[in-house]
Amino acid sequence: MVKKIKGLVLITGTTSGVGLNTLKPLLRYGWEVIAVNRSNKRAVEAADQYLTDSEMENIHFIEIDLSDLDDVRSGCDEILKKFNNPINSIICNAAVYKPRLRKPERSPQGFENTMAVNHFGHFLLINILLKNILSSEREIDLNGKTTKFKPRITVLGTVTANYSELGGRIPIPAPADLGNLSGFKNGFLSPISMANGKKFKPGKAYKDSKLCNMVTVQELSKRYSKERIIINSLYPGCVADTKLFRDTPWLFRFLFPIFQKFITKGYVSQRLAGERVAQVASFKEYAKPAIHWSWGNRQKFGRKAFSQKLSKRIIDSEISGQTYELTRKLVGLD
Ligand SMILES: NC(=O)c1ccc[n+]([C@@H]2O[C@H](COP(=O)([O-])OP(=O)(O)OC[C@H]3O[C@@H](n4cnc5c(N)ncnc54)[C@H](OP(=O)(O)O)[C@@H]3O)[C@@H](O)[C@H]2O)c1
Repeated sequence: MVKKIKGLVLITGTTSGVGLNTLKPLLRYGWEVIAVNRSNKRAVEAADQYLTDSEMENIHFIEIDLSDLDDVRSGCDEILKKFNNPINSIICNAAVYKPRLRKPERSPQGFENTMAVNHFGHFLLINILLKNILSSEREIDLNGKTTKFKPRITVLGTVTANYSELGGRIPIPAPADLGNLSGFKNGFLSPISMANGKKFKPGKAYKDSKLCNMVTVQELSKRYSKERIIINSLYPGCVADTKLFRDTPWLFRFLFPIFQKFITKGYVSQRLAGERVAQVASFKEYAKPAIHWSWGNRQKFGRKAFSQKLSKRIIDSEISGQTYELTRKLVGLD
């Protein structure tokens, strides 16, 4: 029997929700998976409940707390030492959302923690692994076919970070906006807690961090040509019942999925969201650079993905260039 040439995909945040539900389709398409989590114990327990023994054999668990830049560095070193083949595809999925905080939580390096986990941790991870992933173009077996796979990075974006969409203009507490980036320019340490240097708004801190994720996709796509790597983002739909909402009031957690299912019709199951993420990270039809893939805000059966128009706050070259350079400094890459 001819041995399959497995591709290597890395995904962050697989203990629950979208990340956990992305594992099964990735394994079905034939990937060998590196699952990056802050607790291997919880990540193995969650995957074990959900995957077969033979599927579990194709997952490697690596412990990285994305809030801690030192941990990102040592975890990436471990990855680079452990795997002989370079990584073909990276999926940045992990995130925290803590809209009820009264004052900012701080990462080990002293940064506001939502930005640290969602943006800084992923930014550093991508940059450390970039040389490795850029060298990965080769033939792999994917979904029953041998394919020359171009390196790919897929980042989870969201509607609330995109001012071009109605969901991105919701004023509670405020739309995502990096302003003049004075918070980043001034070092982003206490008492600074927002990218624009203004008063701490925890819900906006999440939106801003996702805006930074989407800005990074645009800027990386300018810096690395589509001949070398495909970098894009996606909004899988409103997965209103994941643990992302664990820090919201219980009444919100009860009503939000009902509202999304029956009023906005934006609700997407965790399983479908996972399928969408796995497809964007794997399939040729999504191999177009700097696209933000979406299935729209009103879900309809059989709906196809399209390229969502993005706001100036995401695609403006000056903002994306400045955000990228300031983030490089803050995470210690310069
Ligand atoms: N749910 C939605 O409606 C929706 C909509 C659009 C986009 N998204 C995006 O989809 C992605 C997944 O969200 P989800 O809804 O599936 O949320 P979730 O169930 O809360 O999953 C988040 C994952 O991130 C991990 N994580 C949190 N902090 C971490 C850290 N410091 N280091 C490493 N991993 C960490 C969590 O692990 P722990 O168990 O250790 O906390 C968990 O595995 C996020 O990027 C989110 O912004 C979600």
